[in-house]
Amino acid sequence: MENNNPKIIIAIDGYSSSGKSTMAKRLASRIGYRYIDTGAMYRAVTLFAMRQSMIDADGNVDADLLQQALPGIKIDFAPQPDGSQRTLLNGEDVEDEIRRIQVSSHVSTIAAIPFVRHALVKAQKAMGGEKGIVMDGRDIGTTVFPEAEFKIFVTASAQTRAQRRFAEMLEKGGNPSFEEVLANVVHRDHIDETREESPLRKADDAVTLDNSLMTPSEQDVWLLNQYTRAISAING
Ligand code: DC
Repeated sequence: MENNNPKIIIAIDGYSSSGKSTMAKRLASRIGYRYIDTGAMYRAVTLFAMRQSMIDADGNVDADLLQQALPGIKIDFAPQPDGSQRTLLNGEDVEDEIRRIQVSSHVSTIAAIPFVRHALVKAQKAMGGEKGIVMDGRDIGTTVFPEAEFKIFVTASAQTRAQRRFAEMLEKGGNPSFEEVLANVVHRDHIDETREESPLRKADDAVTLDNSLMTPSEQDVWLLNQYTRAISAING
């Protein structure tokens, strides 16, 4: 869509599997913005740490080793013709691998490490330099872009979110149990909300969306309306 409106930063935060990535991605493609999935960046660092045996069987991370290795971890996004993106870890396409439950079970621990957050937040700020960006995550409206012109906070019940993630995993050929997926969602909520560094919380000026009972297309309509409203306010 041709978009002659002023370019802004759109921050979409919320709980895991709340459907925020799908909404964010579709809005970005609709209005001709770049989309960045910051969760994918934390997932890529987690995969790197797992491959290098920096996480033991109990889930403990060798933080010293990870800190040394961090400058050598390069994360990029390769845009696809259908508007989606694939996550690249040091040039390798790891998009499918970072969505697996093994990565999901360790990612909150990695995302709670302050030096990891500092490095990724710095990279994310750099990506927003030219605006015209939709970024989704947990701390975009509070820490990465507190000055973002348009902020959304997405939530839904844990049961609903686990159901969505479960269906997504089955579709991708995985074989998880629903209980395992639900437990993972609840566990991650807890770590994300209680970590010391940038815990998941709604920015004061964000608009909340509880989409437990909404279809994806209802969400798209809602989000586009909110965007139009935000742009009108900016245009005066
Ligand atoms: O959105 P997701 O499930 O792919 O996120 C993966 C993990 O990364 C999740 O546990 C929260 C964390 N995360 C974060 O702490 N900050 C972000 N900006 C994005 C994700």
